[in-house]
Amino acid sequence: MTKVFKVALLPGDGIGPEVMAEALLVLDAIEKRYDLRFERTHANVGGAGIDNEGKALPDSTVDICRASDAILFGSVGGPKWESLPPDEQPERGALLPLRKIFGLYANLRPAIVFPSMTAASSLKEEIVAGGFNVLVVRELTGGIYFTQPKGIVGEGRNRIGIDTLRYSVPEIERIAHVSFHAALKRNKKVCSIDKANVLSSSVLWREIVTGIGFEYPEVELSHMYVDNAAMQLVRKPKQFDVILCENMFGDILSDEVAMLTGSIGMLPSASLAEGTFGMYEPSGGSAPDIAGQGIANPIAQILSAAMMLRYSFGMEEAANVIENAVEMVLEQGYRTRDIYQHKDGEKLVNTKEMGDVLVKRIEA
Ligand code: IPM
Ligand code: MG
Repeated sequence: MTKVFKVALLPGDGIGPEVMAEALLVLDAIEKRYDLRFERTHANVGGAGIDNEGKALPDSTVDICRASDAILFGSVGGPKWESLPPDEQPERGALLPLRKIFGLYANLRPAIVFPSMTAASSLKEEIVAGGFNVLVVRELTGGIYFTQPKGIVGEGRNRIGIDTLRYSVPEIERIAHVSFHAALKRNKKVCSIDKANVLSSSVLWREIVTGIGFEYPEVELSHMYVDNAAMQLVRKPKQFDVILCENMFGDILSDEVAMLTGSIGMLPSASLAEGTFGMYEPSGGSAPDIAGQGIANPIAQILSAAMMLRYSFGMEEAANVIENAVEMVLEQGYRTRDIYQHKDGEKLVNTKEMGDVLVKRIEA
């Protein structure tokens, strides 16, 4: 019997709809190869939600997501909505509530430099020679982003801004397990990031992660202060395999790692709930400067769809098919503008053409 997976499609703003269109062609190609069907429902989010339904995360969108097995998300935001109050803006008004409502506590942000792509890195070639592959596992529903009390209280110059950083033992335990599980399938190393020389939440974090580490004797666990980690990443990124972070440290370090790969247009992410539900989105933003020109790199969106197949639908093989196709196409020299290095053997392509060569490879 044909398996049916329900996918909520939230293309959003900027380049979101353009790169989403290519990811959908890839899903079509996967449907042809395997006996399954992706039942897709489009919904508004971000600026598109504000313009069409009056808010960044319309209730109808939440309902569609609830009725789905996974969310494939594009990107949100743009200059048009930047003057709105921060909580109503596309990024905060849509992303943070989606994470909370669906309990998306585990954020996986892989950053891969393929050997054929080392020239795109912002680091010297000798530091990235042969490529590298780091996975940031970021706690996504706790910490300073969500803990109460929070807000600005008082009047005039007497106002104070308050954010609270708190982590409970179960919150630390469950994200630690995610990182160790991921490491088991990779190079079996976890580096846990904290600021245990200053923060109490970090002292607890380190203690709990250490304890969980004993349950995974095959995995080598190390700890690093966040400031040192920021430095080590640019000094010697290849020393890392899985990097485990609380919410804000993960926000910061994942952008740093992304830049080390040279193109944020290539990096996918997964935000997972307990069970199999997840939301999948490119790590880069909506890139309003190039939106509508058909030149954006669709690879991050396509690799996000691959992560959806792996983590929400249990289709490891189909995910690998997509990932291998991406690696192959890059090896053959196909480059969108963001990763084009003006080198011999490179073929400059636009969004559609990149989607097309990938679909051809998947169908081959
Ligand atoms: C990210 C983004 C978000 C975050 C913003 C847009 C709320 O930077 O997904 O990393 O801080 O988590
Ligand atoms: Mg961020």
